[in-house]
Amino acid sequence: MKQKKKSDVAVLLDYAGSHRGLTFLGLFLSAVSMLLSMAPYICIWLVARDLIAVAPDWTRAQDIAQYGWLSFAFAVAGIVLYFAGLMCTHLAAFRTASNIRKQGVAHVMNAPLGWFDANASGLIRGRLDAAAADTETLLAHNLADIVGTITLFIAMLVLMFVFDWRMGCACLLAAVISILTMFAMMGGKNAQIMAEYQAAQDRMTKAGTEYVRGIPVVKIFQQTVYSFKAFQQAIEEYSAKAEHYQADVCRTPQSINLSVTEGAFVFLVPAALFLAPGALATGSFAGFVTDFAFYAVFSAIISTALARIMFASSGIMLAGTALGRIRMVMEAPELKAPERPRAPQGSRVEFRDVSFTYDGAETPALSHVSFTVEPGQTVALVGPSGGGKTTAASLIPRFWDVSSGAVLVGGVDVRDYDMEFLRNSVAVVLQKNVLFSGTILDNLRWGNEEATEEQCMDACKKACAHDFVMNFPKGYETWIEQGGTNVSGGQKQRLCIARALLKNPKVLILDDSTSAVDTATDARIRKAFREEVPVVTKIIIAQRVSAIESADRILVLDDGKVVGFDTHEHLLENNDIYREIYQVQTQGGGDFDGPTPDAIPEGKEA
Ligand SMILES: Nc1ncnc2c1ncn2[C@@H]1O[C@H](COP(=O)(O)OP(=O)(O)OP(=O)(O)O)[C@@H](O)[C@H]1O
Ligand SMILES: [Mg+2]
Repeated sequence: MKQKKKSDVAVLLDYAGSHRGLTFLGLFLSAVSMLLSMAPYICIWLVARDLIAVAPDWTRAQDIAQYGWLSFAFAVAGIVLYFAGLMCTHLAAFRTASNIRKQGVAHVMNAPLGWFDANASGLIRGRLDAAAADTETLLAHNLADIVGTITLFIAMLVLMFVFDWRMGCACLLAAVISILTMFAMMGGKNAQIMAEYQAAQDRMTKAGTEYVRGIPVVKIFQQTVYSFKAFQQAIEEYSAKAEHYQADVCRTPQSINLSVTEGAFVFLVPAALFLAPGALATGSFAGFVTDFAFYAVFSAIISTALARIMFASSGIMLAGTALGRIRMVMEAPELKAPERPRAPQGSRVEFRDVSFTYDGAETPALSHVSFTVEPGQTVALVGPSGGGKTTAASLIPRFWDVSSGAVLVGGVDVRDYDMEFLRNSVAVVLQKNVLFSGTILDNLRWGNEEATEEQCMDACKKACAHDFVMNFPKGYETWIEQGGTNVSGGQKQRLCIARALLKNPKVLILDDSTSAVDTATDARIRKAFREEVPVVTKIIIAQRVSAIESADRILVLDDGKVVGFDTHEHLLENNDIYREIYQVQTQGGGDFDGPTPDAIPEGKEA
């Protein structure tokens, strides 16, 4: 990939887009501000020089006040430019982080659903969010610090040669030792430890999300966080890695580093003792004292500069790992869009010798499945759990792509459709329904943003949701909590069906979508479907015989293979698996959850 050859910073600047220039401006301002911040030290040297030159007749040192003002002006200018620079880099950093989040989310939307199984949503969110935040620090602070510090170092080296290179070298010694300890801390084997530490943090986020989601189950079984082994293990592992990194890897180099940088002037003393006799002998002792004063003050900059480098390089490392995580999201496989999308005709659904194997699975979930659903027909998919019903239904809206064979809607292979057109034509109510926080109307309008209140009510009437919605004090303005926790399972299912109907789909797929609805209401929903949406092709997955037997045809799937495709009566005569499902339910066992279908007036359909 092209991106891999680029440095991390270059990749980040690509994300900055039009705000790239702002980053460069910020860096430039930061460099200039660093140069200005050195001016006061030079002024101090000038003051020291003048004083020593006129000693002990101090009144002759007339320019001292001027130097004071000059140094004050430079300091103020330096601070102003530093803030202006930070403002530029911050603006660019925020935009970059927001671009990363936007592009990440947009990319993930095109990934096949299977990818989300392997990448828990908490992990994706964590990766994108934390990674974007980490890059924000790099762009807003670290890069400016790095550029500023490099400028400072170059200026320092120049000044060292201008005044007295020997004392300069003594000061530099502190910097060299500090840089060596930093390399020891971050390079080689320790970089690997740092990566493991980050990976442990990732695993802890993932397990934490899973734990929070599973709290109801944890409570039901009277368990505690300690019995949630995966989470506990992830926390322990993270704490071990963190301790190892901080205590074993960082302690010694960090201690040396801090002592050396904070006490940089200590290295000056032996240098001064060594140089003093020479200066005395040549009569340049006043100059020597001036230089010594300068370096003693100047050495204070070294610790500031090195602290900045430390901070900045850890920022670069963090951003490097952050970019790695962002890449994991950006490299999620995408469903291929057709070059020239084709226009479909009608709403016939056809499976042509379809086989499908989930990524990483050893056996196919579907093998050589062929069947056709004519426009307007209702076909029920039945069969034992794990038989492949949900999988077959998921291939129609292209949640996954077939491994071989083809799925056609309206005579056109779904892979040749414009994705948006396909998803608008095929409405799916999933086995795991989701409502979002917002009012009932907001939720319904996920199906069609422009739906009027009347259209929403109409859809709810068909899905038998209108009555219970009107029973809420606020009716359609009732607030739904995140995940739909404040409505019952059956109410949630009916709202999801209404939401799907609002799409005005050509094909409607209901995957176990009325399992929590009582049998009488279920029958009413099916009656409404038959009478009010006759042109829509309906594919219904249901465990309930009452829901199945009224279908035009029934497809029996067992172990991913079609073992029957016929009407209820014919299957009952000829198909052992179907007969068994039917008998178990009508004789009071299995999944049957209410009165027999004959007891419901409109349950029995033609
Ligand atoms: N995301 C997935 N990744 C890997 N394998 C999967 C995935 N989803 C389902 N499978 C496997 O594919 C097979 C068919 O599953 P599918 O969900 O289609 O069954 P189903 O007929 O809908 O069952 P149920 O009636 O229990 O909903 C099963 O063996 C299942 O283990
Ligand atoms: Mg299923």
